[in-house]
Amino acid sequence: MQRQTKVIAIANQKGGVGKTTTVVNLAAALSARHRAVLVVDLDPQAHATLGLGLEKQQGISMYPVLAGEREIGDVIQPTKWSNLNVIPSEVDLAGAELEFGMREDRLMMIKNALEPVKASGVFDYIILDCPPSLGIVMTSALVATDSVLIPIQAEFLAMDGLALITGSIERLRAGVNPTLELNGIVFTMVNVQARLTQDVIAEVQQHFGEKVYETLIPRNVRVSEAPSMGTPVVFLEPRSKGAEAYKAFAWEFMAKNPTRIAAPAVTAPPPPAAAEKPAAGSAEAPQAAEAADNASSAAETAADESATAEARPGDAADA
Ligand SMILES: Nc1ncnc2c1ncn2[C@@H]1O[C@H](COP(=O)(O)OP(=O)(O)OP(=O)(O)O)[C@@H](O)[C@H]1O
Ligand SMILES: [Mg+2]
Repeated sequence: MQRQTKVIAIANQKGGVGKTTTVVNLAAALSARHRAVLVVDLDPQAHATLGLGLEKQQGISMYPVLAGEREIGDVIQPTKWSNLNVIPSEVDLAGAELEFGMREDRLMMIKNALEPVKASGVFDYIILDCPPSLGIVMTSALVATDSVLIPIQAEFLAMDGLALITGSIERLRAGVNPTLELNGIVFTMVNVQARLTQDVIAEVQQHFGEKVYETLIPRNVRVSEAPSMGTPVVFLEPRSKGAEAYKAFAWEFMAKNPTRIAAPAVTAPPPPAAAEKPAAGSAEAPQAAEAADNASSAAETAADESATAEARPGDAADA
């Protein structure tokens, strides 16, 4: 089973739209599904770092790596949960805009730093938490990434905000990152009852079609409480509405962003585990590709099934 590491930047120049919450909980839910994840906290606020249960620590961030003082391997930290790792943030990163802003390689600096990690194939997903500004850090994150996931709230002028960031994506695609893709748009803090919410979602869907994730993340108090416990809500309150939504979102995300390349077909009949998997799958199991992926990595999966992983219908062959 080969891995093709995908880099995803979670970005929106607008503040407080749920970027960090999405980074933390998508990463957690993916790790519970046996995907190896590296979160890179690029925001000096360090909310992703804290939300994943780590402290800010001077010298442990992208800052010394970008400054050429440390190797990237030295700043990758494990979390309490298997498959879930983080490059934390620290206040020094706030100086990056000014300090590195005049460097000739400023647009390429994050891409160059991440390259050996990406090439190693150790991780399925490298998820970048971007700060809420279109400064040099966010721009170089958009150069480093394969695709951009945009969290938005369904509110007045949502389309205007989207136009700003999709405009940036277009410009970078025309220039320094020609393979940059819009990964998708995910609605956060949704209040489905509100009429405006429904209208905004319909408008964005009309404009962006399949790029809009079907899973809506509801506004849920458990989600907002979890960061103070240093634990993603999908682990802290796995049955809460917010956690269930983020887990469903992770399934949808994995199906749309596969990273495992199945071994070439063999003529011999498949092993029993692989043969049973499709039958065990329910309507909820996301995609055939995902089933094949899980079946052919059954041994690996069994080995790293974590206590926090939630069983879903159709997961019997996974356990
Ligand atoms: N689904 C949700 N339900 C309730 N509260 C939420 C939800 N998602 C996020 N929040 C809360 O909204 C606030 C902003 O969320 P978050 O920090 O994820 O946004 P952000 O876009 O990363 O912000 P910034 O632009 O400052 O980096 C936080 O207090 C968070 O706990
Ligand atoms: Mg944030």
